[in-house]
Amino acid sequence: MINVRRAVKSDARKIAQAEKQYIDCPWTEKQISEEIDNPSVRFFVAEENGEFVGYLSGVVTCDECEVSNIAVSENFRRRGIGKMLFAALEDCLNRIGVRQMFLLVRDGNSAAQGLYCKIGFNVVGKRKNYYQGQDALIMRKNL
Ligand SMILES: CC(C)(COP(=O)(O)OP(=O)(O)OC[C@H]1O[C@@H](n2cnc3c(N)ncnc32)[C@H](O)[C@@H]1OP(=O)(O)O)[C@@H](O)C(=O)NCCC(=O)NCCS
Repeated sequence: MINVRRAVKSDARKIAQAEKQYIDCPWTEKQISEEIDNPSVRFFVAEENGEFVGYLSGVVTCDECEVSNIAVSENFRRRGIGKMLFAALEDCLNRIGVRQMFLLVRDGNSAAQGLYCKIGFNVVGKRKNYYQGQDALIMRKNL
């Protein structure tokens, strides 16, 4: 059974391992630990039977939230965990009056774009060469 909960400092090591494995410019364990402690950040992890399987974080500024990163362990993809992580974040944002979420995604990351479109994000702009020669799409979702 999948369970999504707020991240705590002791999750930082596993999140950092996943960042290294799945994210182009990974955060270090120290950076992640600081983010977990940052009151502006909402950080979630997903577990299956207590085993770490994914994470999602977003930074809240006034009534906006910028999604920082998400990854789901390779063997656990396409089982709705990405959607569950976003549902937990959105639930939390709705309770504190956040009105919109936005994020940047590498043009060509079809899995991430597929997830974001499926849950209601739309492309609202593009940053040329944002990822060393590759463009970033700016996506937004109104809550
Ligand atoms: C992007 C990622 C988090 C998706 O996680 P996930 O748990 O597999 O996503 P879900 O199972 O919740 O998928 C929900 C929907 O998103 C879309 N989707 C997910 N993966 C997809 C893929 N590979 N191709 C196309 N659409 C995809 C589908 O519409 C899917 O619904 P469906 O399975 O009913 O068709 C995962 O692929 C990942 O960790 N990628 C590597 C890290 C990364 O790129 N992070 C984003 C950085 S911006």
